[in-house]
Amino acid sequence: EPGRPLAGRHAVVTAGPTFEPIDPVRGLTNRSSGKQGYAVAGALAALGARVTLVSGPVAIAAPAGVERVWAETAREMQAAVDKALPADIAVMSAAVADWRVDGVASGKIKKAPGGPPSLSLIENPDILAGVSAAGKTRPSLVVGFAAETTDLEANARAKLSRKGCDWIVGNDVSEAVFGADANTVTLFTRDGAAESWPRQSKAEVARKLAARIADHFRT
Ligand code: C5P
Repeated sequence: EPGRPLAGRHAVVTAGPTFEPIDPVRGLTNRSSGKQGYAVAGALAALGARVTLVSGPVAIAAPAGVERVWAETAREMQAAVDKALPADIAVMSAAVADWRVDGVASGKIKKAPGGPPSLSLIENPDILAGVSAAGKTRPSLVVGFAAETTDLEANARAKLSRKGCDWIVGNDVSEAVFGADANTVTLFTRDGAAESWPRQSKAEVARKLAARIADHFRT
């Protein structure tokens, strides 16, 4: 289909932060805005893909033509991704919390004279690594993100092999990125290639990534 090179393909995209509860009113989260992942979901849909967007808590509208599934915690996000498979394409752009609270309190933790409570943390599952190792249901193209302040190339390459994905979008976050509209990225692929893209809007980064994905499926 001209103009819709990804027609017939299914893409799963994660975006936004996760929220890990401490008690019924408090939690651990991060500053991910979800903008880049939402833009990628929209750009893939614009090229004809069926897109399942698994989103952490953000306050942005779902792009046209995208099916959004909400997830709060890392484990909910992982379950939603698993449920969305099989897919041809996975783009994992969510800022998943590395840890969650072990033993979430069932009632609001009270301020006590004994001083502040201690939080015990346990590791969350790595959704990207899990999808990359999904065996029969592994999407044929799995793309991760790496936000780094230093040694972008070395860290992105290490992540590529550690996580078992096919591409890593390396994100230079030494400049303002979180919540901003622009992004400076380099695309690292398994064959050792690296493509640096000039600082541009997140929408432009998304269109470029979607176009590269469409090229990948054309060849
Ligand atoms: O290891 P790090 O968090 O820097 O890796 C970032 C990449 O891994 C992103 O693509 C992110 O969406 C993904 N990730 C994940 N699950 C985690 C941690 C990271 O899918 N628990």
